Amino acid sequence: MKIAIGSDHGGFALKEVILSLLQELGHEINDVGCYSLNSVDYPDFADMVAEQVVKGDAEKGILICGTGIGMSMAANKHHGIRAALCNGHYTASMSREHNDANILCMGERVIGPGVAEEIVRIWLNTSFEGGRHQRRIGLFS
Ligand code: RB5
Repeated sequence: MKIAIGSDHGGFALKEVILSLLQELGHEINDVGCYSLNSVDYPDFADMVAEQVVKGDAEKGILICGTGIGMSMAANKHHGIRAALCNGHYTASMSREHNDANILCMGERVIGPGVAEEIVRIWLNTSFEGGRHQRRIGLFS
């Protein structure tokens, strides 16, 4: 699967962990940065990943910052983006089954790398249920 991934400095270390996992799983990755622990502005990276998903250049996106909150807020400003902040397997699976989330957001300062890897595996392997959930996401303005 083609996946766009981005982080700010607060999510940089976890992005490196997730990049290794995605490579191991054989995904095609576009890492939009950041590329160091230098302080940057998270909306810039949320915008780059969201634009790739909206255009279809990436099927899904992953965004990581300190809490995951700023990234999810910024990504959800883009029409057609359903960014979900996940902190465990329940939110990871529900965000796909019920919300058809197309961007996964996580907070490096909130969850550990093991939980984050589990979230990514579940999120990428869980399908949207459609039906009434399709109607509901169709009501988004
Ligand atoms: C950066 O210090 C921090 O504010 C950012 O990573 C994120 O948590 C914002 O929501």
